[in-house]
Amino acid sequence: MFRRHLIAGAITAAFALGGIAPAVAQDAVKVGLILPMTGPFASTGRQIEAAVRLYMAQHGTTVAGKRIELIVRDDTGTPDVTRRIAQEMIANEKVSFLAGFGLTPLALATAPLATQAKKPMIVMAAATAMITEQSPFIVRASFTLPQATVPMADWATHNGLKRVATLVSDYGPGLDAEKAFKERFARDGREVVADVRVPLRNPDFAPFLQRVADLKPDALFVFVPSGAGAQFMKQFQERGLDKTGVRLIGTGDLTDDDILNDMGEPAVGVVTTHHYSADHSSAVNKAFVKAFKAANKNARPNFMAVGGYDGMHLIYESLKATGGSTDGEKLVGAMKGMSWQSPRGPVTVEASTRELIQNIYVRKVERSDGELYNVEFATFQAVADPAKKR
Ligand code: DHB
Repeated sequence: MFRRHLIAGAITAAFALGGIAPAVAQDAVKVGLILPMTGPFASTGRQIEAAVRLYMAQHGTTVAGKRIELIVRDDTGTPDVTRRIAQEMIANEKVSFLAGFGLTPLALATAPLATQAKKPMIVMAAATAMITEQSPFIVRASFTLPQATVPMADWATHNGLKRVATLVSDYGPGLDAEKAFKERFARDGREVVADVRVPLRNPDFAPFLQRVADLKPDALFVFVPSGAGAQFMKQFQERGLDKTGVRLIGTGDLTDDDILNDMGEPAVGVVTTHHYSADHSSAVNKAFVKAFKAANKNARPNFMAVGGYDGMHLIYESLKATGGSTDGEKLVGAMKGMSWQSPRGPVTVEASTRELIQNIYVRKVERSDGELYNVEFATFQAVADPAKKR
């Protein structure tokens, strides 16, 4: 109560001084960034927030005459919390953009609110294909699992892998990856010999890994979300699967740059497909990695960071394009068709899907200067999300 009185007093004083407070409030454009900052997916939140702050430090906080104000809130990775925070941000904070969304269920919980409030919702992480179909106000700055997986199936086929087992986290993106891999691999006359799903939270990989050891496939294809790869790799090694000749392949979520160095020897040689590697050799990426490390105690950016960085690019550039108007339909309209050079390579927002068309790189984990990197060695150019009807 005491605080509220003080604030009320301050506002009255500002009015008395000639309406300074309302003028300042009008000029601010608020960006509500909702992320898992605690809990098992905190690394996603940490990476995205760091990249968003880096973008703002590099590009300033005035865009089209408006002051950009960032509001960061922790949803702990719980959909009900995400929805409640989004509601508060829309109703009380009057944000112009919703952004973040570290996991698929968190994005799905918010989509109806974005539609209702006509607020652009920038998905910086969550990657189940159908998310963008849940609201015309969603624009995705990350990727989709089918987009990353189909190239992996093609690579496997072209490299003589005939019998492959799949292991995925049992929720949206994992099911997308499993389906995309199976359909593509079967089309080429190959066989998925086992398809196993493990719980998203606290997964125990051991029982399944025993089955894989018995089946002796040519390769094991894995999707686990960002941050979970280290635990998988540890159990893969403990079961001795790294010595059995079963090749490990997957989407790049498995060899996440955030934790890759801690995986050690078992990760070396793992082949994955993804849209971003911190090792990507472009000048834009080298500058990005250098600046990110300088601002974050030498921490390496991962694909989540790039989603956050490019998401801020969408926010800044759409606001420039509307001349500072925060009309949600105009902002989303301005994002459609937008192209730029991201640290990941060239990207374009496909107007009809609001998904990024982007390169998917084939990478192999290699040691260089005592550190592990996803070293890109082949590129699938300008890949659109294969799960969308066009
Ligand atoms: C999702 C989360 C991740 O951490 C990831 O790497 C891919 C997808 C998701 O929940 O959509």
